[in-house]
Amino acid sequence: MYSEKVMDHFMNPRNVGEIEEASGVGTVGNAKCGDIMKVYLKIEEGIIQDAKFKTFGCGAAVATSSMATELVIGKTIEEALKMTNKSVVEALDGLPPVKIHCSLLAEEAVHAALWDYAKKNNIIIEGLEEPKEDVHDHEHTEGAGCCNA
Ligand code: FES
Repeated sequence: MYSEKVMDHFMNPRNVGEIEEASGVGTVGNAKCGDIMKVYLKIEEGIIQDAKFKTFGCGAAVATSSMATELVIGKTIEEALKMTNKSVVEALDGLPPVKIHCSLLAEEAVHAALWDYAKKNNIIIEGLEEPKEDVHDHEHTEGAGCCNA
């Protein structure tokens, strides 16, 4: 059911923890499943130097947050913004359809951390929309959620 990569990132998640004095912190949740994800980013000169996460959620949520942090480290803000839940799923060699919403949480948590960074620094990140705390609302509009799967 799960790819080896998903199992690996679930059993040995990368970048678990928090960053003290992070440049941006984002927390999102899904009211339907009750899972919560928090992402910390350290950004210097427009580059994401470090990313960490804490996830209170299912195995796929842990694996997708682990992969999402791996994907954004070393990237520019613009590149990180291009990381979608689809790229996270692809990097994990796929997820079962009912678990796609978990990857959406990872994408939104990174966006929420970038939003926090932009707010703190009084800048506008082109293409970044204000994140919704409850990703479940978003799912309905995007049609990518567990209830639509
Ligand atoms: Fe909700 Fe995975 S079941 S994030």
